[in-house]
Amino acid sequence: MSTALSPTALAQQFTSLFGAAPDGIWAAPGRVNLIGEHTDYNEGFVLPFAIDRTANVAVRLRGDNTARLVSSYGNQGVVEVDLDTLSRDSMSGWTAYPLGVVWVLRQQGVAVGGFDLFLDSTVPTGAGLSSSAAIECAVATAFNELLDAQLSPGALVLVGQRAENEVVGAPTGILDQSASLLSTDGHAVFLDCRSQASQLVPLALAAAGLIVLVVDTKVTHAHATGGYAARRASCELGAEVLGVAALRDVDAEDLAEAAGLLDEETFRRVRHIVTEDMRVLETVSVLEASGPSAIGDLLTASHASMRDDFEISCPELDLAVDTALSNGALGARMTGGGFGGSAIALIPASAEATVRTAVLDAFAAAGFTTPDIFAVSPAAGARRIV
Ligand code: GLA
Repeated sequence: MSTALSPTALAQQFTSLFGAAPDGIWAAPGRVNLIGEHTDYNEGFVLPFAIDRTANVAVRLRGDNTARLVSSYGNQGVVEVDLDTLSRDSMSGWTAYPLGVVWVLRQQGVAVGGFDLFLDSTVPTGAGLSSSAAIECAVATAFNELLDAQLSPGALVLVGQRAENEVVGAPTGILDQSASLLSTDGHAVFLDCRSQASQLVPLALAAAGLIVLVVDTKVTHAHATGGYAARRASCELGAEVLGVAALRDVDAEDLAEAAGLLDEETFRRVRHIVTEDMRVLETVSVLEASGPSAIGDLLTASHASMRDDFEISCPELDLAVDTALSNGALGARMTGGGFGGSAIALIPASAEATVRTAVLDAFAAAGFTTPDIFAVSPAAGARRIV
């Protein structure tokens, strides 16, 4: 899934498979989260940016109630579904993402009828770069436009999140879909996850001679099970004991008192969220005042908090971060939900080869799977491309 079909090739394959040209092609990007991890479902702050890798969907409305879906990856062939029988539990595999969005739209009164859909994506799956949100946002944007549903970008974010929560079964927040839908070239999205208010913050990496390098550790994670849900439960417990609606409402000055009220582990989970919210706010002010070369320490502090307090890192992510830092990175951290996936390193462009080689060598020496290493830049959000 690394080589994108050109829009022309995607349209051609669509046409030869389904017998008619698509009505259009929509693209939505994956994301990197610069900082603000697990703060979204605590109604706090995040600062992601869309990356220059997208899920592209070619769609044609059919006029009946049949959905036919195919993707350029995997060998599953065409999946055909009668939309009248579509239920939350009937979806599985990759089609749960597009069909999940269709199910939510229909629940919300948007009359999605039959369609043909061809998906192609260059967002790596299982890498913590929101390949699933990219599919959801491309599909939601396509139907919003094709059916003139007039849903705002913020409403589309919630459609994608509902598909993830209620169909896929992952209790995730609004970070990924917001990044995919609200991003603009050259900017990060500063999002208040309580109000959904967002602001674009310039992230002029190239002008500062910097790049963001992604290290995909190849350690796969699944947020529908395990650690992610457990962390969310700890945060909800913390908020309940502290008597607040969400951990967003706990300030740094409240932490000393919180330590006496919470068990040791829950306290550390809470401390990560409280300090991470502060780091996001500080990153935004530092970016605005001094540009990206000044935010490295905040990124690295965020990683330490996730490793030690929130405990969502893993040896591969820690090795990627430490190796990048000792080879010239200004800052580095794991990004996304954790328990695997990717780390990001903010490095001078001139250090790219050094960091790349050092990380590959360190992984080989540790006996870890060879990681994928590539640069990303802040890219545009979901849009129609044909
Ligand atoms: C995953 C979830 C997001 C967010 C991050 C952690 O990417 O989908 O909602 O919680 O983890 O910041």
